Amino acid sequence: MWTVSLFVSTILKQHGCEEPRKYPHKDPLLGLDYWRAQREAAQKSQWLPTSKRLFAKYGKTYEVNNLGQRMIHTMEPQNIQSVWATNFNSWGLQPLREGIAVPFFNHGINTTDGDFWRHSRALVRPTFARIEVANLGFLEKHVDRLFDQLPIDGSTTDLQPLFSCLFLDSSTDFLFGESMNLLLPDQRQECMSFIKAFDYCLYGLGHRVRLGSLRFLHRDKRWLASIQVVHEQVDQYIEKAIRSIRDTNGSDELAKKADRYVLLNEMAKQTQDKLDLRSQILTVFMPGRDSTAHALSNVFHVLARRPEVYKKLREEVLLHGDAKLTFETLRSMKYLQWVLNEGGKDGKSPIYVRKGDTVMASMWGLHQDRDIWGEDAAEFNPERWHEMKPIWTFVPFLGGPRTCPAQQLVLTQNAYVLARFVREFERIESIDPNPWTKARRIGFQSKFGVKVKLVRAVSHN
Ligand code: HEM
Repeated sequence: MWTVSLFVSTILKQHGCEEPRKYPHKDPLLGLDYWRAQREAAQKSQWLPTSKRLFAKYGKTYEVNNLGQRMIHTMEPQNIQSVWATNFNSWGLQPLREGIAVPFFNHGINTTDGDFWRHSRALVRPTFARIEVANLGFLEKHVDRLFDQLPIDGSTTDLQPLFSCLFLDSSTDFLFGESMNLLLPDQRQECMSFIKAFDYCLYGLGHRVRLGSLRFLHRDKRWLASIQVVHEQVDQYIEKAIRSIRDTNGSDELAKKADRYVLLNEMAKQTQDKLDLRSQILTVFMPGRDSTAHALSNVFHVLARRPEVYKKLREEVLLHGDAKLTFETLRSMKYLQWVLNEGGKDGKSPIYVRKGDTVMASMWGLHQDRDIWGEDAAEFNPERWHEMKPIWTFVPFLGGPRTCPAQQLVLTQNAYVLARFVREFERIESIDPNPWTKARRIGFQSKFGVKVKLVRAVSHN
């Protein structure tokens, strides 16, 4: 503990910072006052405003006692860069995350450090390689199905659950080799029990993270039953992957047949230990479950309220006529990239790293910092990207060795869906008077969805 305190102090001194201010606890022993206030803020969907208020009051780096453990909250780019890149090897997240998800899963890419983590990273690399990312063919089918679900009579629709289905369909396709096909109406009911169970597993995980070392207090039969449902489904995919590997003697026939990498098949070539495979695939599926859908939903939440941005976006996309939307075409659409960047500025929960002490980095706080982004930091302003080339001040996917391996995939897929959308619809109007409010769950989901009216384009030529 002493060494780590010293280390934290050293980092702070290196960057000319003072010792962090301390949260004035009423309960200095366990910090239960702080813990309760956080829980209450989350229950009232006030977690983000509360976090903003705390940074404003105690500074961009401050210290709390979180259930008996020293926790440093920071929104300073230098500290984030130091922990996740410059001094990467001095920090780890295994002590904090290990065991927290058991019995849901054990070891995987985002719960380990060191050799196991390096091995897991190498395992996922081919799936997220540039050539796979550029393969937009398989997403096209899912987007076509999404459009079939949208009303043609101008009635109201909520885009948020539809985007969730879209990215669940596409991610199960490339992670498990089999799409859930939630956008096919007759399949939806069957998969809903899995989705509900999976979401309850995530809810339980969030609770256990908040409980920290007191997680033994978490007793919830529904959580255990939900884990069972998820395991049964995932085990079926695992059985199939192992069978195919055995049938083809581990050849690349599978990849050839599927016309792309399927992550589970790649993993099954390395190990056929079913429990290991289950943990590995769940720890990739978990961050992939909803994050892309929420990022895109949040962009549409703004677009529905900012017709001038939508119009400009549409003008840019229509310049390309009916040309096939390739990786390169999408990259060349500057304004579309700015809109997605601006969406990324709003997103993603804070993340933890710990070595004795815990550092909790607030990307949201960093991305809203007026000292970096100017007076309009909290506004949606795609034009700011004309000038800005931020590095550690803009980290929606983090940076350094643990950067999100799916970053290019997410950006390309979101660009593709956005471009298809603006080609198809001339206007999008919000019919929801509520401001964007974070839902009470892991990630940045809109509490009130994205309820809109869509006006189809007569012709986009
Ligand atoms: C908008 C969408 C996404 C955002 C903003 C995002 C952001 C991030 C961030 C900030 C991290 C590092 C923090 C942490 O460890 O918790 C991370 C890690 C990770 N993400 Fe993503 N992510 C997104 C989508 C995805 C998707 C779709 C997948 C997979 C299909 C994915 C897979 C992973 C994995 C496996 C890690 C762990 C990497 C490691 O520990 O080495 N992410 N992501």
